[in-house]
Amino acid sequence: MLILDVFTMEFVRLLYASKVANTYPELKQDLIEILNSAVDFNYRNEITGVLYYGHGYFVQCLEGRRSKVDDLLYTRILKDPRHKNCEILFYEKCNVGLFKNWNMKFAPINKRLGDFFLENHRDDFNPFLLSTETIPNFIDLLASEYAIEPYSFEMNE
Ligand SMILES: Cc1cc2nc3c(=O)[nH]c(=O)nc-3n(C[C@H](O)[C@H](O)[C@H](O)COP(=O)(O)O)c2cc1C
Repeated sequence: MLILDVFTMEFVRLLYASKVANTYPELKQDLIEILNSAVDFNYRNEITGVLYYGHGYFVQCLEGRRSKVDDLLYTRILKDPRHKNCEILFYEKCNVGLFKNWNMKFAPINKRLGDFFLENHRDDFNPFLLSTETIPNFIDLLASEYAIEPYSFEMNE
């Protein structure tokens, strides 16, 4: 008999913001180490996403199987002393992925992201300013940076 585990087969998308704990030169080394473990862990757990850094803030969008994303968030990311004031801005079930092939794409903020904050929040890049009105457009902007079509998650496990 096939028992479908509805909980583990759910896919979610998460967006959170945080502040860096260290400044340069430690920050550079921290970023290298974060990326090394993120690429490896996310690949093994079929998690995709992007991480942006700018003006002392992180904003990260993660998507994947709910149980895997929750595990990453609660047992690893929220406990990481390299950042602080972690705030979950968005957490929703989703059927399509936006960041195919990116187990963890890291980028410093760019002009498009900076312009988004100027236009929508009349301020420099600061992910804590994002609101329920602007978050969907912000996630679309992150996805558009990678210019791929949204794709269906594979329910083949
Ligand atoms: C802003 C930020 C984003 C992170 N993103 C990820 C991630 O996507 N995947 C991951 O495995 N670890 C991520 N980490 C690192 C984890 O919090 C944790 O420190 C790491 O996974 C531990 O890996 P290790 O056991 O290989 O040292 C992130 C850390 C920070 C500060």
